[in-house]
Amino acid sequence: MTAQIIDGRAVAAALRENVAARASALPYRPGLAVVLVGDDPASRVYVRNKDKAALQVGLHARTIALPADTTEAALLALIKNLNDDPQTDGILVQLPLPAHIRSDIVLRAIDPAKDVDGFHPDNVAALALGEPGLVPCTPRGILRLLEHAQIPLRGAKALVIGRSNIVGKPVAALLVAQNATVTIAHSATRDLAGECRRAEIVIAAVGRAEMVRGDWIAPGATLIDVGINRTDAGTLVGDIAYAEALPIAGAITPVPGGVGPMTIACLLENTLTAAIARRH
Ligand code: GUN
Repeated sequence: MTAQIIDGRAVAAALRENVAARASALPYRPGLAVVLVGDDPASRVYVRNKDKAALQVGLHARTIALPADTTEAALLALIKNLNDDPQTDGILVQLPLPAHIRSDIVLRAIDPAKDVDGFHPDNVAALALGEPGLVPCTPRGILRLLEHAQIPLRGAKALVIGRSNIVGKPVAALLVAQNATVTIAHSATRDLAGECRRAEIVIAAVGRAEMVRGDWIAPGATLIDVGINRTDAGTLVGDIAYAEALPIAGAITPVPGGVGPMTIACLLENTLTAAIARRH
């Protein structure tokens, strides 16, 4: 048996079409502002992709690129302007920020109703409390992939590897909300391989190339790979050893073409959701 390959590109394309159709029925164009500080090459690519995808589904997108020596005060002033701008429904500040800018202060300055990344403490609290709010894009995309692949979550043993605020913690909260039994593993976890062997669903979000080996995987397990790691040979690989996992797993997301495309599609959906909620 070889695993079902969960096609993130196809699921993301369907979601983008859904967003485009719903956006075109509105009497206004939802607006997304993407803020990039500095010239990190990976961030530049991500931001360009977000901007392009937003325009394709009919959102009003603009990227505000600021130099690396922008002060924290100047960035906070820009965010205040975007908070006050009635045409701006979503604000995304690309991370990481330059070291002299405090990310926590910046994220707290974004109007929670426009926080399409779901990183503001109000939205983090809403997710933890099971209240309505904007949910981080990658975790939301992961849940949509599990839903698409018809993976039962209720009572399922799920292992989340990685405890970041962007992926690990929020995806664990979403899985708990769906009645999964969730373990969060991290750098201090003993016997990670054993934890993995006990899991029916593994979400790998650590950023270490092919760390999860084939012999860590329970037969039939669902594997969601959030990692995007560039090898010395220049190819992209995930956090899971894909070729080893394929004959053992029940379902698996490829890298690239799995979780990645879902992140942007969910950002577009969050922007639409924020616009409708704000302008009702
Ligand atoms: N950097 C890496 N991932 C993300 C993300 O999801 N949102 C933002 N704003 N920055 C990131």
